[in-house]
Amino acid sequence: MSSDQIMIKIDSLNKSFGHIQALENLNLEIKKGELLGIIGPNGAGKTTAIRIICCILQPNSGEVTVGGYSIHHDQIKIKSMIGYLPEEPNLYERFKARELLRYFGELYGVPRDQIEGRIDQLLELVGMSHRADDRINTFSKGLRQRIGIARALIHDPEVIIFDEPTMGLDPATSQAIRNFIKELKGEKTVILCTHYMHEADLLCDRVAILNQGKILDMGTPKYLKEKIHGDLILQVRVHDPQKIDRNQLMALESVEGVNLDGNQFLISLHSREDIPHIIDVFGAQTIAVNTKEPTLDDVFIQTTQ
Ligand SMILES: Nc1ncnc2c1ncn2[C@@H]1O[C@H](COP(=O)(O)OP(=O)(O)OP(=O)(O)O)[C@@H](O)[C@H]1O
Ligand SMILES: [Mg+2]
Repeated sequence: MSSDQIMIKIDSLNKSFGHIQALENLNLEIKKGELLGIIGPNGAGKTTAIRIICCILQPNSGEVTVGGYSIHHDQIKIKSMIGYLPEEPNLYERFKARELLRYFGELYGVPRDQIEGRIDQLLELVGMSHRADDRINTFSKGLRQRIGIARALIHDPEVIIFDEPTMGLDPATSQAIRNFIKELKGEKTVILCTHYMHEADLLCDRVAILNQGKILDMGTPKYLKEKIHGDLILQVRVHDPQKIDRNQLMALESVEGVNLDGNQFLISLHSREDIPHIIDVFGAQTIAVNTKEPTLDDVFIQTTQ
């Protein structure tokens, strides 16, 4: 990758809090216009990594550059390049939505003649135009999150970092926010930390799996899903599981495992060629047959356990 294509470069990053090593020799490159997902269990180091990139936290050692600028020397420049939605946006409660956005717009140096237009555009984008003149302390969690997103974008940053943007939101609001993130694709460089695997799968160009401060694996959602199984799961619902001879199934070359869940058999396969033989074994006992592709949930569980 040539250096002008890289927007964020993380090099040998270490961070500890007392005896807890939150990040251990972390290396990562994020391309311009890329939407990178970071997934990982609680305490994996996702928020710590993000806070270092945003110059909110200092690492113990290592370097991060954003657009070629160093977190050690160019903090003001980096802060102006990044829009950050924290896990729990701390909004000034007594401000009205429009006032809050105006305040941050001025803080980030958005030209005065552009600021009101920008605020209108962002309120429209996050579906909050009708609440522009209501105070933040009258907003529900999802509405605050929407204003948090608008605040992160007020200075039209090149890099946008979302730390669990849809956590605890209702399905419609989550979808609105996901659609919005999707629209940023290709235009902006985006980091998305999420515990929702379908969200990572839907939105991200690449996903990094972080655990105990280290990246365990990284790639496109498709690559990660293919890598863990390379195979598929056949689900066969039957009338009476007792009437099925598991040994006959296990004897088939492509069958890797047979599990029973109620009256449904889950058969792991490394190729499709034995599917007709499996269907023969079930014969008239069969109620329904389905194949299940591995999901990012499967990837998460297999990689981090
Ligand atoms: N300010 C702090 N002081 C002490 N320990 C901290 C601090 N911030 C983070 N840690 C610890 O560092 C580790 C990584 O935390 P971090 O918040 O980065 O995890 P995360 O991956 O964002 O987790 P989650 O999914 O729960 O948000 C955890 O063990 C956490 O307890
Ligand atoms: Mg976190």
